[in-house]
Amino acid sequence: MCPGLSAYKHFRVMPLLAFAFQPCGARLACMLRWIFLFCLLPVPALAQSPVLQDHHLSYAPRSAAELASAESRTTPTVDFSGPEPGENVPAGGATTPRSQDDRVFSAPSANLSQDREVDFKLGRALFHRPWSPAQGLSTPSDGLGPLFNARSCVACHIRDGRGHPPHNGDATSFLLKIAKTGENTGPDPVYGHQLQDLSVQGHAPEFKLRVTYKEFPVTLADGQTIKLRQPKYHVDQLGFGPLDKKTVISPRIAPQMIGLGLLEAIPVEDIVANADPLDADHNGISGRPQVVFSQEFNAPMLGRFGHKAAAATIKSQSAAAFANDIGISTPLHPQGWGDCTAAQNECRAASHGNSAVDGGTEISTEGLRFVTHYARNLGVPARPDAGAASILLGKKVFYKSGCSACHHPKFVTHKLPDQPELSARLIWPYTDMLLHDMGEGLADDFPEGVATGREWRTPPLWGIGLTQQVSGHNQLLHDGRARSLLEAILWHSGEAETAKRKVVSMSSAQRRALIAFLNSL
Ligand code: HEC
Ligand code: HEC
Repeated sequence: MCPGLSAYKHFRVMPLLAFAFQPCGARLACMLRWIFLFCLLPVPALAQSPVLQDHHLSYAPRSAAELASAESRTTPTVDFSGPEPGENVPAGGATTPRSQDDRVFSAPSANLSQDREVDFKLGRALFHRPWSPAQGLSTPSDGLGPLFNARSCVACHIRDGRGHPPHNGDATSFLLKIAKTGENTGPDPVYGHQLQDLSVQGHAPEFKLRVTYKEFPVTLADGQTIKLRQPKYHVDQLGFGPLDKKTVISPRIAPQMIGLGLLEAIPVEDIVANADPLDADHNGISGRPQVVFSQEFNAPMLGRFGHKAAAATIKSQSAAAFANDIGISTPLHPQGWGDCTAAQNECRAASHGNSAVDGGTEISTEGLRFVTHYARNLGVPARPDAGAASILLGKKVFYKSGCSACHHPKFVTHKLPDQPELSARLIWPYTDMLLHDMGEGLADDFPEGVATGREWRTPPLWGIGLTQQVSGHNQLLHDGRARSLLEAILWHSGEAETAKRKVVSMSSAQRRALIAFLNSL
């Protein structure tokens, strides 16, 4: 149907992607567009796209021998008789001890030099700092809000782990992103990029969040019944009038913070190599790279962070968090009013903490660098049990069930002369960093970047067995609806339907082994 596909190998992908995901009115126009794109955007063009680049890293090119070595070290194993080399240290030399306390996610990369550990501690201070409102006199640290979701980063990323869904009136570590869909997509004209449920004195908060759950049973092949809970989000007490009819909401729990610098250091080409947008291998699993326009580098880049991978870098994600979650300005979001829109003029006119001391913003370039360095270097704990027979059995079940098709076991990071602790490491994050259609049950109908309302980025599974220890709960998935690893798996559908069915129909011994393997990560 499309002759000469290979001629398009080096076609520039970004303008095509942008074109593909623009809203289109008439049905015929849409069809013609997709036929056109189907011919122009074959898998090789995506996989070998010369366009997406790691602008955020100063990496040294890999030699042919290094490339070959990385490829052989990351080929999925077929031997489950013993642990693989390096499997017990998922972050290589950066791996931290698997301590028994709730601070196990808070240690820096084990191989951080003393100087760089000082920067890590400066970043930690900013991550933990509870910001206060501007006093009008603008001392360098002031400038919370006027609207905000939390006063500090750590209030959501609790003990550097994940947050939790709203509970007993505490919705702090959870947020609702919002966007207008339809002809004119973008932030909500009145409420902005997300809803803030807190505000400084003299300003009304935007809303109050309530969640209710409806339970339904799922019966496994061995007769066991598991109850899943379907959340419903209620947006109450909207302070600035009803939401626009075309505005949709997306509930998000704060994710765990470990190993992020390593995920940021995976070569883009190694991630894109696993994409299979047209499911050419007919395994039911496609996987698409998120592509976002980076203001930081003025270029399209691979999206890596957030539940739909809408942020290309840790720095841009952190700056957006300062602006939208806390109402603190940085050089990437210089306005002192955070997420207040032009329609919220009192909020925009309120005093803020932008000050010359910090280069004109509430946090300086240096401050943002420290926080970014901190978020890059929260270490991944070791896996001392990786070689235990019961764990290896669970690992085999994991592979044979098709989990590893998305929860991709291992990568080798870029060679990074300026980040030696993260450089050229064999890492075991169990994510492909790609977007997958996870079915109707998990869908939020919220498009973001090129992600549709049914797509989510595969989350890394490293450290997932420590969730209870760090967070005191096991509430998983993008909105914390799952209350256990098994519930999280049973919510999988769409591209993961076959894998989920395997888990439903396997023996309870196999399922126990699978869960034990996940708990060992
Ligand atoms: C109100 C709660 C909240 C606060 C406060 C908050 N975050 Fe987050 N954080 C989130 C949520 C929710 C996400 C997922 C966002 C998404 O899906 O787009 C996230 C994602 C991230 C990620 C990407 C993690 C990943 O695995 O993809 C980083 C990095 C991050 N936050 C850093 C920070 C920093 C730095 C601060 C402080 C400036 C901060 N966050 C403050 C809720 C919060
Ligand atoms: C088609 C790709 C795909 C397959 C196959 C898949 N997953 Fe997932 N997995 C995802 C995505 C995407 C999410 C996030 C969904 C969400 O948050 O709504 C996820 C979430 C999870 C979570 C929760 C993670 C967290 O941090 O909250 C666990 C646990 C998990 N998967 C385990 C498994 C297991 C075990 C299998 C095999 C039986 C499997 N997955 C198969 C894509 C996949």
